[in-house]
Amino acid sequence: MARTIIVSNRLPTKVQRTDDGLTFQPSEGGLATGLGSIYRADDNIWVGWPGLFVDDPAEQQHVADQLRNDSMAPVFLTETEIRDFYEGFSNSTLWPIFHYFNEYATFEEAHWEAYVAANAKFCEAVLALAGPDDTIWVHDYQLLLLPQMLRRARPQATIGFFLHIPFPSYELLRVLPWSTELLEGMLGADLIGFHTFYYMRHFLSAVSNLLGLPNQNGQIETPSRMVLVDAFPMGIDYERYATAAASEAALAHIQTFREAVRGVRMILSIDRLDYTKGIAQRLRAFEELLKRYPAWREQVSLLMLVVPSRDQVTQYQALKVEVDELVGRINAQYGTIAWTPILYFYRSLPFDQLVALYRLADVALVTPVRDGMNLVAKEYIACKADQHGVLILSERAGAAQELSDALLINPTATSKVADVLHQALTMPEEEQKSRMSSLQALVRQYDVFAWTELFMNRLAYSKIKQLTLG
Ligand code: UDP
Ligand code: G6P
Repeated sequence: MARTIIVSNRLPTKVQRTDDGLTFQPSEGGLATGLGSIYRADDNIWVGWPGLFVDDPAEQQHVADQLRNDSMAPVFLTETEIRDFYEGFSNSTLWPIFHYFNEYATFEEAHWEAYVAANAKFCEAVLALAGPDDTIWVHDYQLLLLPQMLRRARPQATIGFFLHIPFPSYELLRVLPWSTELLEGMLGADLIGFHTFYYMRHFLSAVSNLLGLPNQNGQIETPSRMVLVDAFPMGIDYERYATAAASEAALAHIQTFREAVRGVRMILSIDRLDYTKGIAQRLRAFEELLKRYPAWREQVSLLMLVVPSRDQVTQYQALKVEVDELVGRINAQYGTIAWTPILYFYRSLPFDQLVALYRLADVALVTPVRDGMNLVAKEYIACKADQHGVLILSERAGAAQELSDALLINPTATSKVADVLHQALTMPEEEQKSRMSSLQALVRQYDVFAWTELFMNRLAYSKIKQLTLG
């Protein structure tokens, strides 16, 4: 039977080394959590890096055996590859450029070479597993060259590619010395998907400006093949969140949390520690709320869950220091014996506690300065069984294109965000319910299963179209 081989840098399971040996935990990040619900279907398999350096062959075998039982196949990266491919080109060059942080980007020839070599390593791993009828679905910016590498090895293969982060405007992309190679790499796919129409348009204009390839109705004519390009806003496993948030376990956690905060209203913020997420801006906006609306002091707290991420990369280390300082300063200035303004956690939480927080929170404050999609916003909506709660969402998250019943804000407009926080905290229950129910209808309908089906149908269509065009 034909299978789908999913390929991404990070697997949905991360392996960690502890005093008790290796542990296997769910990975964080929208790609892993989003696709986590679909990859086990049929005989599918997910190829990727298990998140730590393993060089002992016996240990590698142990990891591979464990992951195989859960439909995964590991690609082991060496320490140098982690440094130059993952922390280097992927997260110090592509990530900042694609999120419009070009001042953070580094341009190292050695990192580029490591990127090419690592993509070739993933290519080998996929070719070793994929049969001629299998569909190969490549994910995200760490593997932009992989579709072309696979195409060279298997000219007839069915290859899809999906980008989980923004695709920047041509002006940003051209800053990269390797932009043409990256575009050519992506064009090895039969179908290239983006979260939004805007990212897709940026890609098409880059392909036309840099490669001179014309496009019409989302079809690019390359010298050898026709490639389809389209927008597929990614959804979540709605029922999983809705069910978990209504479970006994979640309700027990909510009860405990409520008793601990004793009636204080709760604003929730959840993200990886990343400069694209606008965490510092969010803290300043919360501070502004306390300054401009003193009646909220001792009445509301910001519960901020920050998940450690890419902590070997300089900009992430600097952000950690900035966030620690801001939280310390605001808590020291406004806190009282009975009340802590910001409840700050630097770790990840188990799923049942996460959904309890979503369900509990009066407001979710999601303020990225750039974000491909942002699944946290959708998860908050799915957990709101009683439809009580307000989503404040940055207009610069891909999710804002769909979630128009959220309160949309510009994340850098500090005092306006403070006003919108006040608006959210005083919103009549009727209005909360009406906004939440239309948001829920949308997020429920376009869930991750619908997303996968749309992508796969379109991929099949791209093959038919190629045949009819000869
Ligand atoms: N997440 C998690 N554990 C946590 C906190 C967050 O698994 O302790 C998940 C969260 O549920 C969401 C993902 O991390 O699915 C973050 O995805 P998002 O699209 O919001 O941002 P990304 O991290 O992909 O940039
Ligand atoms: C974003 C990216 C993913 C990545 C995730 C977590 O969602 O689009 O590709 O896996 O962040 O980042 P990490 O570097 O830990 O894999």
